[in-house]
Amino acid sequence: THGILNAVSWGLLLPMGAIFARYLKTFKSADPAWFYLHVACQLIGYGVGVSGWATGIHLGNLSKGITYSLHRNIGITVFALGTLQSFLKIFALFLRPKKDHKYRVYWNAYHHSVGYTIIILGIVNIFKGMSILNVEQKWKTGYIITISILGGIAVILEAVTWSIVLKRRKEENKSYNGASNGHLPLSM
Ligand code: HEM
Ligand code: HEM
Repeated sequence: THGILNAVSWGLLLPMGAIFARYLKTFKSADPAWFYLHVACQLIGYGVGVSGWATGIHLGNLSKGITYSLHRNIGITVFALGTLQSFLKIFALFLRPKKDHKYRVYWNAYHHSVGYTIIILGIVNIFKGMSILNVEQKWKTGYIITISILGGIAVILEAVTWSIVLKRRKEENKSYNGASNGHLPLSM
């Protein structure tokens, strides 16, 4: 139960949510759908992730004397960062900073870097957990194939997005004589 809850949340939902935020944003027709998809994935992922994390702490308490320190520490770190990430973002929604506010750049850079840190640490911990549990190779292979598919989708969308952005940039430069700035979807 602990493994499945954690693999689905930290290992699938949060990476999928990041893909929605990064790539759907480019398509003007997908605005604001990308935002709702991102928030839904991350909040469900975070919720399931917390229950998975709690089962981990419970398992740790049941086996007194055995502590998997690295798995435990990474687990506690992703839980803490995930909590910070979700609560701060929801709090910010109420503050409603303007889209072009100068602090928004720093705020987004912060949200992005903490977001990708959570995703990478989560995936590392899933592999650690599978080793502790000594799962059959097929589970590891299955998870590797799944995240490779997600990674492959991300690489393709990255290329598609950049070609759209560069085309848009060219067109905007033509019509406004180089005055475009600030509304490129990939610039944080
Ligand atoms: C654990 C929870 C979360 C994680 C791991 C996470 C992760 C991310 C990541 C990695 C990106 C960057 C995508 C890119 O490269 O463009 C992003 C963007 C974004 N996220 Fe989250 N997120 C979380 C929760 C939330 C919540 C709860 C909200 C809102 C209530 C939110 C709102 C946004 C917005 C508005 C952006 C786009 C910022 C921009 O570039 O304009 N996120 N998130
Ligand atoms: C990001 C995902 C994960 C988090 C946050 C997490 C968190 C934790 C925590 C906090 C502990 C307690 C460690 C201790 O006190 O010794 C733990 C233990 C454990 N976890 Fe995870 N875990 C994750 C993924 C996984 C996965 C995917 C598996 C297996 C497929 C797994 C298997 C285990 C096992 C077997 C234990 C040891 C239980 C014991 O003490 O006997 N974990 N986990």
